[in-house]
Amino acid sequence: MCGIVGYIGKNEAAPILLEGLKRLEYRGYDSAGIAVINSAGVKCIKSVGRVKKLEKLLLKKKIGSNIGIAHTRWATHGKPSIANAHPHFTTHKNIFVVHNGIIENYQELKDQLKKKGHKFVTDTDSEVIAHLIEDCYHPTRKDSDDKPKGHFEKAVKAALKKIIGAYGLAIICRDEPDKIVAARYGSPLLIGIGKKEKIIASDAAAVIGRTKKVIYLEDGEIAVINGSKIKVSNIYSAKGSEASGKSIKKKINTITWGQDEISKAGYNHFMAKEIHEAPEVIINSTRGRCIAARSLAKLGGLESVKKELKNISRLIIVACGTARNAGLVGEYMIEEAAGIPVEVEYASEFRYRGPIVNKNTAVMAISQSGETADTLAAIKEAKKQDALTLGIVNVVGSSITRETDAGVYNHIGPEIAVASTKAYISEIIILALLTVFLGKTHKNMSAKKAKEILYEIEKLPKKVQSIFGQEQIIKKIARKYKRSDNFLYLGRKYNYPTALEGALKLKEISYIHAEGHPTGEMKHGPIAMIEPDFPSVFITPKDSVYEKNISGIEEVKARDGKIICIATQGDKKISKLADDVIYIPKTIEMLTPILAALPLHLLAYYIGVGKGYNVDKPRNLAKSVTVE
Ligand code: F6R
Repeated sequence: MCGIVGYIGKNEAAPILLEGLKRLEYRGYDSAGIAVINSAGVKCIKSVGRVKKLEKLLLKKKIGSNIGIAHTRWATHGKPSIANAHPHFTTHKNIFVVHNGIIENYQELKDQLKKKGHKFVTDTDSEVIAHLIEDCYHPTRKDSDDKPKGHFEKAVKAALKKIIGAYGLAIICRDEPDKIVAARYGSPLLIGIGKKEKIIASDAAAVIGRTKKVIYLEDGEIAVINGSKIKVSNIYSAKGSEASGKSIKKKINTITWGQDEISKAGYNHFMAKEIHEAPEVIINSTRGRCIAARSLAKLGGLESVKKELKNISRLIIVACGTARNAGLVGEYMIEEAAGIPVEVEYASEFRYRGPIVNKNTAVMAISQSGETADTLAAIKEAKKQDALTLGIVNVVGSSITRETDAGVYNHIGPEIAVASTKAYISEIIILALLTVFLGKTHKNMSAKKAKEILYEIEKLPKKVQSIFGQEQIIKKIARKYKRSDNFLYLGRKYNYPTALEGALKLKEISYIHAEGHPTGEMKHGPIAMIEPDFPSVFITPKDSVYEKNISGIEEVKARDGKIICIATQGDKKISKLADDVIYIPKTIEMLTPILAALPLHLLAYYIGVGKGYNVDKPRNLAKSVTVE
């Protein structure tokens, strides 16, 4: 995910900014940039790739400066390129901006600014911020008229009031070269207070080498950092009118963590951090897309093919591993609620079985990395046969996004742990939105049904958060069963894929043999494995197949197998049947796989950790499988 660093103080800014960027590298990024300011103007240098490359470019230039901003970018709008890297600036090179977050109304603002003569040179949403500030700072600036006219802080405030979306920002202004303005709404930002210097950063990791004293900005706050002074005020007033501009007294906090823990945000592993990111993953995947009040699932990335999508009679999902498990959930959702036939294929099998597709078939890849060779090959095969190709991909600008006709990004930041957890949650959420989108385009879903699904999606972040309240119970279960050699995972309908996902995750992280099956299949073979103490994990929320799952539980119980259940809160019957229960909140049937996956991801995590394995980098696995 993107990272911000800003520096103002008595030292040379560029090396400190670079140091800060290096400390943010763990977050993942594709390009980097820096802008420093002195009496001669602003020097801005950007590069694609590692921060080391940017450092080499900077070493070639001598720039004396004590003020600057820098950024590592992880593409969301527009592929990784020098132009799309931050800082972004205006035609007159007056305002320079680094931005984390997403500006939802950027297209609308861009169109308005273009009409006023602003020239845009990037594909990003962030560039619009620089132009908007410039427009507020100096609304009539012409090439011949280069005199300062505005008030930097006021211009930033005025611009931010026009923005809808999330931002963490650090901004410099050539015409007011003695300050940095920073602002936050929905994307973290802090100011480190060092000896005669201030460091602005999106993540404490960037400042920890220079100071442990920090001020955290809250949503809706703006800070002007000028020499030794920091003035924090509100951007918005409580009633939406002009904020008073009065300074807010901020508390100075002391960071007690070291660099290592901070990069994992206090968690021992990236996998734990990413599982716990679930609430914000849901918010980020649905931002601007889930509009329950209007029964609307807005998937901007599919607008260009809306007409073609109306004509499809069949959808084939191609994916691998965890992404395929998410696809299977999508199959149940789209068939049941949107009335369109769906097939889910192992991407690695697709092209070898002579698939029959035509222009009324859409083939959709699901891939976190967007680089999985098998999935990419499946899409190429589908294209050869004239199918409409789509993608649900996390990494912007990746091969699958370039190869497909249209698609939806996850917008959840990089997934660092090799085992996919947060991407799985996001992929299912997007498939739920797609279900509403397709249900409505095909006129198979009423507005009432759409509204019901979307309202339930909106409630998920809180429900997901409540599952973490059971972590001690999950840890206890992990301790109890970590020495088992085998596990069965069983579920029906929407949670058959959850069983596959639970088993896959346990295998990957703990190297315990685990199999996932539909509960109904158990009696056709897997039941032969059951013996006293053999653990079976049943995913049994209160849904349309609840009683069928209970029969499966009884069959295992009759053979003295151990039973672990994922059940709906308040289910007393399950507590009598199972040896151990992890409860999840109630939701509509099609969304239960999201809530049920979290305890299973945590269970795999704690068993792996309990066995002493490196859960972030399991043996024999790679994050991005770019070979067939
Ligand atoms: C499982 C896992 C893998 C990936 C699979 C596809 O935890 O990480 O099974 O899901 O390799 O990867 P992407 O989604 O990048 O195509």
